[in-house]
Formats: sequence, C-alpha cells, structure tokens
Amino acid sequence: MIIGGSASQKLAAKIAWELEDTLCPVETRKFPDGERYLRIKEDVEDGAVVVQSTGYPQDENLIELFLILKTLQDMAVEDVKVVIPYFGYGRQERRFKDFEAVSASIMADMIEFCGASELLCVNLHEDDIRDFFDIPVHNLSAMQPLAEHIGARFEDPVIVAPDKGALSFAEEIAGILGCECDHMEKTRISPEKVETKPKNMDVKGRDTVIIDDIISTGGTIVNATNILRKHGAESVVVSCVHPVLVGDALLKIFAAGVDDVIGTDTLRSDVSTVSVAGIIAQKLREI
Ligand code: R5P
Repeated sequence: MIIGGSASQKLAAKIAWELEDTLCPVETRKFPDGERYLRIKEDVEDGAVVVQSTGYPQDENLIELFLILKTLQDMAVEDVKVVIPYFGYGRQERRFKDFEAVSASIMADMIEFCGASELLCVNLHEDDIRDFFDIPVHNLSAMQPLAEHIGARFEDPVIVAPDKGALSFAEEIAGILGCECDHMEKTRISPEKVETKPKNMDVKGRDTVIIDDIISTGGTIVNATNILRKHGAESVVVSCVHPVLVGDALLKIFAAGVDDVIGTDTLRSDVSTVSVAGIIAQKLREI
C-alpha cells in the first residue's frame, strides 16, 4: 500500500498508478492549538511505501512523517519503505562551527527510530548523508527525466552548471542528450548572496539550459543568467531537481531574463512540471 503524506499527495498517487498499487487513505488535521492529528484509515497488511517530502513547512512535514511511521510500527507493519523525494535539513550535514547540531544526522536517527526499513531519496544534497543511516538508502538521480524534457524542447542546447558542485548534473544530462556542457565558478558570501565568475562561455546565439539540484533564494540562478546573457545566449532556461523557491525567488529569476523554469515534483511548486514518479516506481520494483 502507498501512503501519501500531506506534502506529497499528487506524487504518491502517481507512484501508485505507475505500480498499479493501492493508495491507503490517511486522515490528518490540526487541533485548534496547532498540533497534528493523524489516523491511518485502513489496515496495512503486507508492507507500506510512505511518500513524504520534508520541504517547507519542514517541521510539520517531518512530524507528520514520524506520526505515520510510528503508527505503522504500532500496527506491526514490518516492511516500511520511506520515500523522501526532497530530504529537508540535508544541507547541515556536518558541523561548520563547534557545538552545532548536525541536523541531517539527527533526521536520519529519527527516521530509523520510527521504523523505516529502507529509504529512497532524489538527489540528496550530499551523497554522504547515506552514511548516517544503518538501513539501505537509495539516492536516485532525476537527470534522466529532466534530460528527456530538455531534449524534447531543444535540438542542441548547451547545459550549464552554475557552480562546480552542479557540474556532474550538467555532465549527466549532456551525456544523455549528446550535447555540450560547461560550468561557472561560484563563491557563497552569505545564505542570500553569491558571487559567480564566468569561464570561457561559448554560448553566443545558443540555447542554454542551467541545471542545479536546488533553487532556493534564486541568487545562484540570477548570477548565472546575467553571465549567459552577457555572453550572447539566445535563450536561457533553468532546470532544477528541487524547486525550494524561497519568497520571491521566481520573480527574481524571471526578472533576470530567464525564459522558463523547469523543476521536478519532489516539491510542489508552480514549476514542478517534470515528474520523478517514474524513477521512484522503477526503484521500488527493483528492491
Ligand atoms: C548549492 O550548493 C546548491 O547546489 C544550490 O546552488 C543552492 O542551494 C542554490 O541556492 P540559491 O538559490 O539560494 O542561490
């Protein structure tokens, strides 16, 4: 049975459809004081797949996930596979200053404590997060469905990574489509401010597609777009796995001259047009 948490209802339904599996109804609401009530409305006999992204509002989505998992444990469901398409708190995966909470590690402990037997995620911010778990963790890549979407729109685009960290994504997409890729150099000054330096961008008159794992404030994309436009790109389309899109990020991105933004449905947003349901269903069939 597939159980969709509040954050991932549509994606859970798509996964259930792909697998020809049943969706298990869940009742969830808030008490007047803001606390959450949850009830799994049917008996679950042969194992469950719980789908819940833990993006904004992170804490609420996490609590709901823990309530679902612990309730399944109480119901004596032994095989509980958890799909967390966007793994919230994943960016604090180490201690940058003394005595900081290593949030990603604490999330891993909680997910295991609540009874998960296996975990599937999509493009974890750092693959090392898997080491915090004792259960098997599958870190899936959304590059194939993104590449298919990009390939259907452009004949010979240049795939651009806005920083070195995203170069492997650009290479993966360029490899699938058989086109060129390039990357820029980025330095983060603060959570909201980044500086980006161009390399020898050869994009004059070309369709360009920027790829990143996360778009948060949009600062990275705005800088990269400015550089591509300065170097004479014919069009600039932005793609990402996780459209976190804090505040007016989309406004800033379009105001910078981006033609379109393509995100996946690991998170719900106005630009979540490419679905990761297929790659998740495929992995669930295999394991
Ligand atoms: C950084 O390591 C990530 O890959 C993204 O580049 C970053 O999260 C984007 O953040 P923002 O949209 O705030 O520039």
